[in-house]
Amino acid sequence: MAKRPSTVFVCQDCGSQSPKWLGRCGDCGAWNSFVEERAQPSDPASGAAAGHRYALAGAAGAARLYSDIELEQHARLTTGIDEFDRVLGGGVVPGSLVLLGGEPGIGKSTLLLQAAANMAHRGPVLYSSGEESEHQIKSRGERLSVGNAPLYLLAETCLERILEEIARIKPALVIVDSVQTIFSLKFQSAPGSIGQVREAATQLLFAAKGQNIPTFLVGHVTKDGSLAGPKALEHVVDTVLYFEGERHHSHRVVRAVKNRFGAVSEIGVFEMTSSGLRPVPNPSKMFLAERPTNAPGSAVLCSVEGSRPILVEVQALVSSSTYGTARRMASGIDSQRLSLLLAVLEKRAGLNLIGDDVFVNVAGGMTVDEPASDLGVLAAIASSVRNRVIPSTTAMFGEVGLAGEVRGIAQAALRVREAEQMGFRRCIMPGANMEPDARLKRPRSDNGGEGSSANTCELVGVRTVGEALEAAIG
Ligand code: TYD
Ligand code: MG
Repeated sequence: MAKRPSTVFVCQDCGSQSPKWLGRCGDCGAWNSFVEERAQPSDPASGAAAGHRYALAGAAGAARLYSDIELEQHARLTTGIDEFDRVLGGGVVPGSLVLLGGEPGIGKSTLLLQAAANMAHRGPVLYSSGEESEHQIKSRGERLSVGNAPLYLLAETCLERILEEIARIKPALVIVDSVQTIFSLKFQSAPGSIGQVREAATQLLFAAKGQNIPTFLVGHVTKDGSLAGPKALEHVVDTVLYFEGERHHSHRVVRAVKNRFGAVSEIGVFEMTSSGLRPVPNPSKMFLAERPTNAPGSAVLCSVEGSRPILVEVQALVSSSTYGTARRMASGIDSQRLSLLLAVLEKRAGLNLIGDDVFVNVAGGMTVDEPASDLGVLAAIASSVRNRVIPSTTAMFGEVGLAGEVRGIAQAALRVREAEQMGFRRCIMPGANMEPDARLKRPRSDNGGEGSSANTCELVGVRTVGEALEAAIG
């Protein structure tokens, strides 16, 4: 009988296995991603080997008719933090598994400890940390004025121990900080390896679904911004949230990139203060707060994030390159998108940028990835090149195509309304969104119902990049 190899090599990016070390994973193409792990004896009796054998709360083994299943209204639990509830889709769904990713020091533990403290007033909460001791968590809790609610702290890295405590305390909420630090006794590989992370997530999923306990997992993020450990983790959980923002700025954005119970790309905006994260109810105001007036290269665009329109400033600086090759740097927008917009500007608007360095930055550490932000980015670059100021009361939105056309976008009325509320006087927008059948409804100051303070924007519809630049910097 062939002897079973005692170790296997596992790709830490995709989980693919090989009996030999490989320089490049044949499945996902990652380089140098194989790590030696002890082969898992396949024991059909254990849950891990059976893999997917678990029953969701309330589900009996046999298949049921769609029409026989009664609709369940998920009674969502509030975290007591408005902006956090918003990204979750209106609160935490019982039995859901939520992954919160982000760079070190961005505020993951702080946010979850605040939520834990609020939720503990309605039932015991278990906060299990493999990163900090109970005393460290407590001293952080003092800054966040965590009261005397039944909040259990557990400094533990052993998965089985955490599961025992969940069974013993029967908490209303579980937080595991972080999934990369915990290990299962069943595996001999190091914490953070793909086998361990997957096992931890799967066992916690069983606990969450089986006992209907909402669970938050903290996940570390690698330098390139993806979740450390397996991508597979994102498929296991119900909701994936990412912390965005720069550590040196005080504001933080939590974005939903996957949500089985709510809208994706919904964001929650926070400010880090000396007493924890504070929700920011009016993000446009915060993102525009330090906007320079009368500076070329600055444009305000309106992006819709989830259900909410947000005005942000985009800044561009174009200067002649001192070295041979021109540099292009984008922060807050996709660099591929920037290359495309620069090509459109050269070909369709006659700007010569070949020998120039181009830097584009979305102010405040915000990231915009909506095509509707194209027009603002383009106008900011043109404004810097021509050294002409875009009036500070002008906002814009619209998608730009390769032929230099400005394309209609969704939710134009919502964007115009936000610009009006923020006191903008002119909106440059796609002509297609101005047509009568586009039904652009907006509050008018003369229709009685909308208080007298409502400001009305002049709407400028444009069809080409040329028209847009004419309207913006004339
Ligand atoms: P933390 O939640 O520990 O980050 P993560 O868990 O994502 O690694 O955040 C720590 C940072 O936040 C740290 O630099 C200190 C700062 N901070 C405040 O500014 N105010 C506070 O009230 C707290 C608790 C932390
Ligand atoms: Mg932490």
